[in-house]
Amino acid sequence: MDKYYLTTAIDYVNGAPHIGHAYEKILTDIIARHYSQRTDNMFFLTGTDEHGIKIQKTAAAQGKTPKELCDENAQKFKDAWKVLGVDYNRFIRTTDEDHERIVQKIFKKLVDKGDIYKHEYEGWYCQGCECFLNPKDLTEDGLCPDHLKKPEVVKEENYFFKLSSYKDAIIKHIKDNPEFIVPSFRANEVINQLEDIQDISVSRNKANVGWGIDVLDDPEQSIYVWIDALSNYITAIGYDTENPSEQFKKLWPVDVHVIGKDILKFHSIYWIAILMALELPLPKHIFAHGWITIDETKMSKSLGNVVSPTSVLENFELQYPDAFRYYMATSAPCGRDGNYSDQDFKEKVNAHLANSMGNLLNRSLSMLVKYFDGEVKAEFLTGRSKEAESLLRTALGTVKIVENHFTHFEIQEAAQEIISLVDATNKFVTDNAPWTLAKEEKMTECGQVLATVLEVMCVVASLIYPYCPNIAADMAKQLSYDLSTKLDDITIENIKAGKLISKEDIFPVFLRVDSELADKSKAKA
Ligand code: MSP
Repeated sequence: MDKYYLTTAIDYVNGAPHIGHAYEKILTDIIARHYSQRTDNMFFLTGTDEHGIKIQKTAAAQGKTPKELCDENAQKFKDAWKVLGVDYNRFIRTTDEDHERIVQKIFKKLVDKGDIYKHEYEGWYCQGCECFLNPKDLTEDGLCPDHLKKPEVVKEENYFFKLSSYKDAIIKHIKDNPEFIVPSFRANEVINQLEDIQDISVSRNKANVGWGIDVLDDPEQSIYVWIDALSNYITAIGYDTENPSEQFKKLWPVDVHVIGKDILKFHSIYWIAILMALELPLPKHIFAHGWITIDETKMSKSLGNVVSPTSVLENFELQYPDAFRYYMATSAPCGRDGNYSDQDFKEKVNAHLANSMGNLLNRSLSMLVKYFDGEVKAEFLTGRSKEAESLLRTALGTVKIVENHFTHFEIQEAAQEIISLVDATNKFVTDNAPWTLAKEEKMTECGQVLATVLEVMCVVASLIYPYCPNIAADMAKQLSYDLSTKLDDITIENIKAGKLISKEDIFPVFLRVDSELADKSKAKA
C-alpha cells in the first residue's frame, strides 16, 4: 500500500465538542493508526467548519465577533482531540487563509465552466442544516424534520450549481461501485434522494449571510457554507485549480471520508458532483457511521444530557484515553447507532481491558519471574505442543482477519476478533495450568506455555495499538517488543531467549475503573 488518506467531517464551532463529535474522531484515529501499520504514507485530516449563518448568529447572541467565537471553540476541539489521543496530520479551519483563497478559485472555475449560474430563487432555509429544504420534506406543521424548527423563507438572487446534470453519473457510480458507500445499506437511501434532485443554491446574499467567503468578482455574494466546507478535503492537501501541490498529487483521491449518517447526502451527492465538475477522481469510500445516544436518549441541549468527551476521563479519573477510545469504537457494529452509559462503560472496559487482556499479561510475566527469574530459556522456544502451535497460528490469522475488517471499516468487529484471541489465550493458560506444571517440576513445558502466551501478547499489542495506544506501548515495553512493526512483518518469533523482565519492571497495563467515581461526580454536578 503506497498511501492512505482519510478525513473526518469538520465540526461546527457554535459550541464545544461533545461525545458524538468525539466518536467520529476516535473512529477515524483508530483507522488512521491501523493504516500507519500498513503504510508509511498515511495522512489524517480533521478540522472545523467555521462560516455560515449559524456561527454568525451564535456569535452575535454572545456579543462576540464570529472570528472570536471560532477561535475560542476551535481551540476546544483541538484540546479535546489532544486529550483523546486523536493524532491528526492537519487540523484545517475553514477560516485558514489558504483554504479561503482556493475555495474562491474553485467557485470561479465552476462559474467559468458554466456549472454555476445566477438565478432568482425563493426557498425554505433551515439554519440547523445550513441548507434549503424541499417543502415535501417538512413535517405536517412545516418544520425541519431534524431540527423541529420552522425554516426561514429566503428570496434572493443567488448562484446555482447544476447538480441535476450530474444525477445520472452519480447514480451510475454508486451502482457500479458497491463499496463506495459504506455500509452498503445506505446506498439505496442516496439513490432515492437522487431521484428528485434539483440544482442547488451555492451562494447567499452578503447582506443576509455576512460571515462567509466572498465570491471573487462579486463581493455582494458569499459562498454557500457546504461548498466551502466540503472543499476542505482538497484545499487542506494543496489542491489548486491551476497548480496542485505534489502532496495533493500523492494523496488524492482520498481513501475514505468518515462522516455521520446525517450528512451522507452532502458527501455522496453534492461533493461528488463538485468533484465531477472539477474533473477530479472520486473518493474511494464514504463511510457513514451511526449516531451515539446517551443512556439510549438522543443528546440535546434542551434535555441537558450533552456529554463532553473529556468529562468521562475526568469522572473515572483515567490517566489515559484508551479505555474511552476502546469503548466508543466498540459501541456499535459498522454504520449502526451506538450508546454511551457510565455503567456499561465500566463493565465493558473492566471485563475486556483489565480482566481479560491486562491480567493475562500480568499473570504470565509474574509467573516467568516467579519460576524462571524473568528468563526465557532457549528450550521454551522450540518443540512446543500442538496446542501452542495452533494458538500461534490463530494469532497470525487474527492479524489478517483484523486487516480485512478494517478494509470494510468494521472497527467493532475487528476489536471483537482481538478479544477472541485474548480469550483463546486465557483458555490456553487455564487448560495448560503452568502453575501445576511448575509444581510437578515440568519446567520446560511450563516455560513453553508462558513463552507462547507472551508471543501471542506481542501480536495483541500490535493489534490493540490503534484502539489503545498507551496500553499497547506499556505492553510492548514489558515484552521488549517493537510496536512500530508493520502488520505485514508481524511474526511469531518476537520473544527471544534471555532475560526478559525483572519483578520491579512488571506493572499492570490497565487498572479497573470504578463507577462510584462517576456517580460521585454526577452528584456533585
Ligand atoms: N460542519 C458539518 C460537516 C461538514 S463536513 C465537510 C457538520 N458539523 S457537525 O458539527 O454538526 O457534525 C460533525 C460530525 O459529527 C458529523 O459527521 C456528525 O454526524 C457527527 N455527529 C454529531 N452528533 C453526533 C452524535 N450524537 N453521534 C455521532 N456522531 C455525531 O455536520
